[in-house]
Amino acid sequence: MSRITVIGGTGYTGSAIVAEAAARGHQVTALSRSLPGTPTPNVDYVQGDATDEATLSAAMEGADVVVAALSPRGPLADTFRDVYRTVARLADAAGQSLYVVGGYSSLRPAPGEDRFVTDLGHIPAEHQGEPRTVAALVIEDLPATPPTLDWVFVSPALRFGSHTPGERLGRYRLGDEVAVQPQDGGEISAADYALGFVDLIEKGDHHRTQVNLGH
Ligand SMILES: NC(=O)c1ccc[n+]([C@@H]2O[C@H](COP(=O)([O-])OP(=O)(O)OC[C@H]3O[C@@H](n4cnc5c(N)ncnc54)[C@H](OP(=O)(O)O)[C@@H]3O)[C@@H](O)[C@H]2O)c1
Repeated sequence: MSRITVIGGTGYTGSAIVAEAAARGHQVTALSRSLPGTPTPNVDYVQGDATDEATLSAAMEGADVVVAALSPRGPLADTFRDVYRTVARLADAAGQSLYVVGGYSSLRPAPGEDRFVTDLGHIPAEHQGEPRTVAALVIEDLPATPPTLDWVFVSPALRFGSHTPGERLGRYRLGDEVAVQPQDGGEISAADYALGFVDLIEKGDHHRTQVNLGH
């Protein structure tokens, strides 16, 4: 059993990770500004703003593993990377492993090829901010952390998200920084992403690296 704090634990991805981890008997704390309408049993929900370091620190205290599942939308669009830098600093100081919910755009189509984020021309300019911001975490910010910080950046498949919630198939495929080739339409449900995510936490066999989960 691990003590796991999920920052953004009531969101689309975070709530699935919270549910999967709690179902496996981990001791889970979820931080968000509002409390969930339908809480997962046996989860400690903490209400607070992750932009406040004292709030973050209190939510992360005592955890073995910290999961970062915020999204760079709304008020967090401009502060997201700073918040994640603070999370990384606090996790490093406490010796906690950091697992980051990532994005698809930071993956590569094939070994040695440029990451998708280098050519987002097919996406309207107003929608490019989120993939660029999330990709910057794994391209710039996480590699720049002290080597003592154990981090894993977990990218989902292309068509992942609340717009394509999908269903739990009870399986996933794990890739590295090259996107796994879709076999079932290229999407992965939040439940199956969470399955792979918590498997990664339990196995603990990836360090300071990017992986991806698809179907
Ligand atoms: N295909 C893809 O590449 C893809 C698709 C989807 C998502 N993603 C990535 O996955 C990550 C998670 O996205 P998501 O869609 O699961 O997010 P989401 O549903 O928007 O959830 C965000 C979570 O963060 C909480 N939150 C927001 N601002 C906060 C603050 N200031 N303090 C504390 N909690 C705060 C929210 O709850 P409150 O609002 O109550 O605070 C919620 O629990 C993002 O990085 C996103 O870019 C990638």
